[in-house]
Parts: sequence; C-alpha cells; structure tokens
Amino acid sequence: MMLVVENLTKKFKKTMAVDRLCMEIPRGEIYGFVGANGAGKTTTMRIIAGLLAPTSGKVYIDGLNIFRDPLKVKGRIGYMPDFFGVYNDLKVSEYMEFYGGLQGIYGEKCRELTDSLLELVRLTHKRDAYVDTLSRGMKQRLCLARSLIHDPDFLILDEPASGLDPRARVEMKEILKELRTMGKTVLISSHILPELAELCTSIGIIDSGRLVASGSVAEITEKMYQSGLIKIKVAEKEEEAVKILMEMPEVGELSSVAGVIEIKVSGGEETSVRVLKTLVENEIPVVSFHPEECSLEAVFMSLTERSSENENNQ
Ligand SMILES: Nc1ncnc2c1ncn2[C@@H]1O[C@H](COP(=O)(O)OP(=O)(O)OP(=O)(O)O)[C@@H](O)[C@H]1O
Ligand SMILES: [Mg+2]
Repeated sequence: MMLVVENLTKKFKKTMAVDRLCMEIPRGEIYGFVGANGAGKTTTMRIIAGLLAPTSGKVYIDGLNIFRDPLKVKGRIGYMPDFFGVYNDLKVSEYMEFYGGLQGIYGEKCRELTDSLLELVRLTHKRDAYVDTLSRGMKQRLCLARSLIHDPDFLILDEPASGLDPRARVEMKEILKELRTMGKTVLISSHILPELAELCTSIGIIDSGRLVASGSVAEITEKMYQSGLIKIKVAEKEEEAVKILMEMPEVGELSSVAGVIEIKVSGGEETSVRVLKTLVENEIPVVSFHPEECSLEAVFMSLTERSSENENNQ
C-alpha cells in the first residue's frame, strides 16, 4: 500500500473537519477524493502531506509512519496546494530553481529537471515569463511541475482542475495520465465526481470528514445502477408501452412526452434487460433505450444525503 490512513481525526475547536477517516491507496492508483465544499478534503490532504498535525489517528506512506519519520517521508511526497501564492519579480525558471533548492537540488541538475518538467506541463514557452503574468491555468500547471521537482512517487493534488476552462481541463487530464504511466501514485481531490471518474482508477467519497464510500470506479458505477433512470424512445404505440411499463413492479415513477418515456427503476442491470425484453416481446417499436449515464452525481448526492440524515438523527 502506498497510503494507509487509520482513524484520522482533526478537530478545529468545535468543527470536526476529519472524523475517524480510514482509507487505503495501493501503489500505482489514481485515487479520486470527492466531496462537497467543507467535507474535509484539504484538511485530510494537508495532514497526509505532513503540513498539519492531526488530533488523532495514523498515516503510513509506503509503510513509514509519517509522524515518526517525517523527513524520510517528505522526500517521497509531492504536494500541490489549492492556492497559488504571489511571487513578485520571479520568473518561471527561477521559481522552479527556488523550489528545487528547497529540496536540495541545485545547478545543472535543477536546470535539466526544470526543462523536462516544464515540457511535461506544457510551459516551455513561458520559461522566462514572470510567474505573476501567467494565467490561472498556467499557474496551476506550474504548481504541479514544482511539486514534481524531487521526483516523488506519491502525489497529493488538491483540486488541480478547479477553475480551468474545458480545454485546460483536458490538458490537465493528459498530464495526469502521463504521471500514471510514469508509475506515480496520485491522490487527487475534486468536488466534481464525473470529472474524476474518467481519470481515476478508484474513488473515495468524503462527507463531513468521513469516508462514506470507496472502491473502484466500476464498483461506484455499479452502485449508481442500483436505482436508475431509463429513457426510452418509441416510434409508435406510446400509450400501450406506458401501460405495459406501469404494470411492471420494478418501474417506479414514469413520465411520457412525445414518444419519449422516462422511467425510474429499482434494481441493477438485469432490470434494464427485463424492461427492454418485455417491450420488445409486446411488439413495441423501441427506437432507443438509454439507462441514464453520468448520474455519478446522483450517487454522490444520495450517499452524502444519507450521511447527513444520519447526523441529524444522532
Ligand atoms: N484552519 C482552520 N481553522 C478552523 N476550521 C477549519 C480550518 N481549516 C478547515 N476548517 C474547517 O474544516 C472543515 C473542512 O474544511 P476543508 O478545507 O478540509 O474542506 P474541503 O473539503 O477541502 O472543502 P473545499 O471543497 O471547499 O475545498 C470546514 O468546516 C472548515 O471550515
Ligand atoms: Mg479544499
């Protein structure tokens, strides 16, 4: 395991920012850490990066206890914070040299690394520009480059794609894919689940400081099929189709407008199969049949709703 977190808790006065959080990330994973604003993502990541002391709990990176061996661990981690500071009169190359110096990397070696990292984040053309003149997306990529200067094998990236335009997001995704092929293990946060689903190998959902779900993207997606929406388009016989569907016990809410029928079903993929089979057997001319995708958001909403209900009940 690259990362093991056991019962991590962080209390700020009355706020439980992180609440007995447990998680594990195997080597080579791109782990998406999803949660709403204030869920505790940044706090957890800062603790893992060794920048914040927890109230209690344990964190191991590659088997090393980070509170016992902080120096050994620091060299293994690259941390990209969710903010970019102000750097008056510092050029991009100088910025990289500054952070290289902090990691004990100087001179020719540092210049070589800077060149290859700027290439990785597509900023070679801005080598001599002043940092403060870069666009937001460029600053984020520069921040990522700096977190890689000491060739860490575990990266902690706090919302690297937030505030980026669609094109910059795609570029950020490509960079992250490259990191994966380089064999890095990555913990990456976002409050947008579908954005991470495309990119990550596994996902953990955090709500009020607790991990409410985790698993491979396939497992989380499977959950979303437990109750889904199906859009069915028919060429004709709409009324007859509606009647047949209403009689099926798996079908909940139903609406139909201009040949498009939307139904809510309970059950997994077998239910979809049964619904389609029933329609076809009754000679309904089905034009298209769409179990709603991308409702990872819906899973996220239902998981986080459930846990806030629990909280209210306590
Ligand atoms: N230094 C601090 N002092 C007091 N409370 C804090 C501090 N840092 C975070 N908190 C609180 O801890 C909780 C979790 O905050 P955190 O920044 O970890 O959330 P987040 O998931 O990163 O949210 P976002 O998506 O907005 O970045 C919030 O209630 C926040 O107000
Ligand atoms: Mg945050």
